[in-house]
Amino acid sequence: MDAATRPARLASDRLRIRHVEPGDFDAVAVSMSTPRALAGTLQLPWSSREQWRKQLADYKPESALLVAETRGSVDEPWEIVATAGLQPTGPSPRRRHAMALGMAVRDDWQGRGVGSALMDALIDRADNWMNVLRLELTVYVDNEAAHSLYRRHGFVIEGTHRAYALRDGAYVDAHAMARLHPRPPVLPPAT
Ligand SMILES: CC(C)(COP(=O)(O)OP(=O)(O)OC[C@H]1O[C@@H](n2cnc3c(N)ncnc32)[C@H](O)[C@@H]1OP(=O)(O)O)[C@@H](O)C(=O)NCCC(=O)NCCS
Repeated sequence: MDAATRPARLASDRLRIRHVEPGDFDAVAVSMSTPRALAGTLQLPWSSREQWRKQLADYKPESALLVAETRGSVDEPWEIVATAGLQPTGPSPRRRHAMALGMAVRDDWQGRGVGSALMDALIDRADNWMNVLRLELTVYVDNEAAHSLYRRHGFVIEGTHRAYALRDGAYVDAHAMARLHPRPPVLPPAT
């Protein structure tokens, strides 16, 4: 899909963002299993609904998992078509300022502004509510849409993981990218 053939961005009455709920597991499993969503992430084909049910039921408050819902027209029901999350990078208190970011949009809704809306929401949450100073992610070197999205949101490439993951029979390199908080909060002056 190039820029000329990409569909129009969604109007705000056809796209909304909210936090995931435990009952969303079916729609999340479907969204994450479409071929391009699979190829761009570390998901395995045919991930089970039960695995997603457990994962969503066990969501920790220190993480965040947002879903994007869209509808074809204002008369149609909302449908989950994407997820985007923040996760702690590990147990060490010394890395509490950093979180790992991941996202995937269902194939038939890519290129319409869903990823951008989710990224805006995650960055607002990280910068203004969760005390996160460093956002990290890995992205396959050939993932043009993701690179474009991440660069526009202030992520820079820090290095390249060689043969990072197996993707449909071939090893693929991935870039490590990160974004530092552009205006870290400061303590208020003493009163
Ligand atoms: C990468 C992804 C999250 C982007 O979400 P999206 O809803 O498709 O993207 P948007 O429509 O918001 O557009 C985001 C940017 O990608 C560009 N883009 C979108 N589709 C594109 C395509 N097919 N080819 C090239 N660029 C594309 C847009 O022009 C836009 O660029 P800009 O930020 O410079 O304006 C989504 O395509 C996706 O889920 N892909 C599969 C899974 C994946 O790769 N996840 C990322 C793991 S690191």
